[in-house]
Amino acid sequence: MKKKLLILSNLPSENTKILFDEVKKGAKSINSETVEIAAHDAKDVDYEILSKSSAMIIGTTENLGYMSGVIKDFFDRNYYECLDKTNGLPYAIYIRAGHDGTGTEINIKKIITGLRWKEIQKPLILKGDWNNDFKRECFNLGATIAAGLDANIY
Ligand SMILES: Cc1cc2nc3c(=O)[nH]c(=O)nc-3n(C[C@H](O)[C@H](O)[C@H](O)COP(=O)(O)O)c2cc1C
Repeated sequence: MKKKLLILSNLPSENTKILFDEVKKGAKSINSETVEIAAHDAKDVDYEILSKSSAMIIGTTENLGYMSGVIKDFFDRNYYECLDKTNGLPYAIYIRAGHDGTGTEINIKKIITGLRWKEIQKPLILKGDWNNDFKRECFNLGATIAAGLDANIY
């Protein structure tokens, strides 16, 4: 049976587009016959897309100590439709932060606790000035989650 890995993020800068592309590339790199990758700007993700997903990777920037407005809007638009219908949905998050990332992690987790989704990897926080290692970390995140889905371990 085909399984869909949904990757979504806000994409406010060239760097965040690079990170998103690396997550996507990593996920595709496992060449699975069963895992399909669906990657979207978070502003375009609705319940129709979400409900077809077997796992998801959520990317966000940290803005003013919180998740980006686009990611908050993603939850606002989809929360009640997801409630009770997506329990146990496996997810991982990555956060691009200028210097912190903690407020974003805490607040995304508060929302996701209500949704009862299942964390399958510790949040990846990419903080500080741009560092080329971020690319490898994002690639590995995509590859790890896709491989886990392929192997039915979530
Ligand atoms: C309005 C605004 C608020 C921000 N607030 C925070 C913040 O509270 N904490 C933090 O770590 N970074 C903050 N940042 C930095 C962003 O997270 C960073 O610019 C973004 O992740 C894009 O990274 P890039 O410069 O690599 O493209 C803020 C940026 C903007 C534009």
